[in-house]
Amino acid sequence: MQEAKIIQQAQALLYDRAMVSWNGEWVGAIAAIPKQTGTGGDLNYCEIFIRDNVPVMAYLLLQKKYDAVKNFLTTCLSLQSQTPQTRGIFPTSFVEHDGVLVADYGQRAIGRVISVDATLWWVVLANAYVRHSGDRDWPTQPAVQSGIQKFLDLILRPSFREAPTLYVPDGAFMIDRPLDVWGAPLEIQALLYGALRGAANLLRYAGPHSRPHTSHDCIRYARELRRHLLKHYWVTSKTVQVLRRRPTEQYGTGIQNEFNIQTETIPHWLQEWLGDRGGYLIGNIRTGRPDFRFFSLGNCLGAIFDLITPNQQRSLFRLVMQNQHHLVAQMPLRICHPPLEDADWRKKTGYDRKNLPWCYHNGGHWASLTWFLCIAMQRQSQSLPEDLKYNVKSFLKNSYELMLRQLPDQQWAEYHDGPTAHWIGQQARTYQTWTIVGFLLMHHFLNAPEEDSRILDLF
Ligand code: GLC
Repeated sequence: MQEAKIIQQAQALLYDRAMVSWNGEWVGAIAAIPKQTGTGGDLNYCEIFIRDNVPVMAYLLLQKKYDAVKNFLTTCLSLQSQTPQTRGIFPTSFVEHDGVLVADYGQRAIGRVISVDATLWWVVLANAYVRHSGDRDWPTQPAVQSGIQKFLDLILRPSFREAPTLYVPDGAFMIDRPLDVWGAPLEIQALLYGALRGAANLLRYAGPHSRPHTSHDCIRYARELRRHLLKHYWVTSKTVQVLRRRPTEQYGTGIQNEFNIQTETIPHWLQEWLGDRGGYLIGNIRTGRPDFRFFSLGNCLGAIFDLITPNQQRSLFRLVMQNQHHLVAQMPLRICHPPLEDADWRKKTGYDRKNLPWCYHNGGHWASLTWFLCIAMQRQSQSLPEDLKYNVKSFLKNSYELMLRQLPDQQWAEYHDGPTAHWIGQQARTYQTWTIVGFLLMHHFLNAPEEDSRILDLF
């Protein structure tokens, strides 16, 4: 099939099959298109997930379909939890049932996992909507302001810990099954940073009456979080050498090894992975148990939100270039590297057969993630040194072509398995919406003015 036909096919799938209407207006897209129209679809893939709609909403914003984005945001807001224990959280997903929208906050989820990212994404998307549509009325509405206040009640409140990170259980984000991602996983912290900065912008529309939480509170918190992440999560070959020589068992303030981390927890693969000039944000910091795995989405968001400096972004792109054989291979983009194997897999995933090594979240490849890397790279491209600029450009083109050549034939599979991503995911759904839209976004960004890659910028 020709490229133009494939684009048309993908757009038709999105608009005619994936988007759901409610009271005559679009409210979002289902996660995967069922094989036969009118059937319920598999498990909960027929529901509208907030996280799966992130690429959809970015695409609609770029197509200037602002009303659809506003309606999605307003619908999610009407489903923000009001019950005492979960007050302020947004649902992972929702679905129409007997004429009513029914939300899942985790009470129906496999393994009863809770999702934290949906709530953070809502604020990030609301900020993006206001920035791009220029709509000044929506954020001044009392319902929107009160939704943001309720979200901030969850974050800006006393807790048992002083650290500015958000502490979550295993599987609280896109990786929604046990994978040893409890504590302070990077993706949640990067999203928290984006949500705090986004909330700071949106609260300004309430003027001086923003109560109890103010823009200023959000900015102060976001700054502290950023300092913490840059200090404890950012690694390069140089920083690792410092980490390796730290004393342990220190007590009090002004010490070097706050989390009492033993040198032996620093894995040897890091040496080759980082090389001389690479850098990235590690997956997690916990007392005695850092997680050095590379998580693609958290790192992309760190760059897109300018949580890491332009210099650090260059080191991140160099790292991605030099590890392409791991991160892209035959289908971009590996979700995390390296996978948990053997005893680690058994103990830390609870023998999870969906997350076998090199599969699904555990080292599998997700085409839907590629556009995040694309915008991270493109928004910096003018400031990259010539060699890196050239490499990044051909890297993105190659990634797009891998998607173009395979995805339509593979029925827009949800994910790919194996060390080279040659196999369609063992339990992958077909016609997965974020695969389809991720491809459309890649096509858009490679052909549109570079400023479009600022779609998720916070300011
Ligand atoms: C799976 C994925 C999750 C996604 C959902 C719907 O549960 O792990 O990230 O949101 O499917 O596509």
